Amino acid sequence: MNSSNSISPVNLTDLNTSNLPTHVAIIMDGNGRWAKKHRINRIQGHEKGSEAVREVVQTCREIGIRHLTLYAFSTENWQRPKKEVDALMVLLKRFLKSERKEMHEKNIRMSVIGQIERLPQDVRAELQKVMTLTKKNSALHLHLALSYGARAEIVRMAQVVSQKCKSGQIDPEAIDEQCVAEHLYTHGIPDPDLLIRTSGEMRISNFLLWQIAYTELYVTPTLWPDFGKDEFVHILKDYQSRDRRFGRV
Ligand code: IPE
Ligand code: IPE
Ligand code: MG
Repeated sequence: MNSSNSISPVNLTDLNTSNLPTHVAIIMDGNGRWAKKHRINRIQGHEKGSEAVREVVQTCREIGIRHLTLYAFSTENWQRPKKEVDALMVLLKRFLKSERKEMHEKNIRMSVIGQIERLPQDVRAELQKVMTLTKKNSALHLHLALSYGARAEIVRMAQVVSQKCKSGQIDPEAIDEQCVAEHLYTHGIPDPDLLIRTSGEMRISNFLLWQIAYTELYVTPTLWPDFGKDEFVHILKDYQSRDRRFGRV
C-alpha cells in the first residue's frame, strides 16, 4: 500500500484548504520495528521517531491544521522494561528542550493530555515550561498524549462527575454527552476528524475511545520513523475524498 518509498512528492497546493481536518490525531507506532529493521536498538528507534514528530508538527503548522494530538506514551507503556521507559523520558525531555524556542516562534501552543502526575519530576518541569511559554499561541495547538489511556480518562471523568453530583453541583438527570465530554482531558478540543496509525496495526490501543466516535481512520504500513510530509499530505488528500455521513444519508 503506502510504503514510504512509493509516496510521490505532493504539492501542498493540491490540497483543498476549505476541507482540511480541524483535528488530526496520530498513533505514532513502529519505532521498535524500525530499529530492528536497521539492526539498531529500540532506543535508537525512538530517537529517530522524535525527528518524525518534528516534521509532522511543522507540516501541520504549514498547512494550517488547528489541532494535532500525538500519542507518545500510553498508560500501558509503563509496563515496558525500565530501561526503555527511562530512555523514552530522557528523549521526551530532550525533545521539549530543543523544540521549545521554535514552537514558540512558530506560534504553536503545546498542551498535554494524560496522567502527567506519573511522569518524572524533571519531565513535568520541562512540560510546564513549554506549556506556560506557549499558552497564548494560536496557530497550531499540539496536544501530547503522555501516560494517556482512554479508559483511565473515562474512569476519571466518572469520578469527577459523581463527586459533583454528590456535592450538588451537577444534577444526575442533567448528565448528557456534552457533560461527559466536558469532563475528559480533551474538554474544549473538537473531536479528531482524522486518526492516523502508522506501522500497520489495525487497533486503537486505548487511544481517545470516546472522542473518535465519528473520526475517519487511516492505517499506513509505514513505520513511524519513516513517516514524513509527503505521506501526510497524501493521507490528507485521501481524507478529502471521503464522504462523512455521521449516520445520515
Ligand atoms: C511507538 O513505537 C512508540 C511508543 C509506543 C512509545 P513502539 O515502541 O511501539 O514500536 P514497535 O511497535 O515495537 O515497533
Ligand atoms: C500505542 O502503541 C501507543 C503509542 C503509540 C504511544 P503500542 O505499541 O503501545 O500499542 P500496541 O501494544 O501495539 O497495541
Ligand atoms: Mg508499538
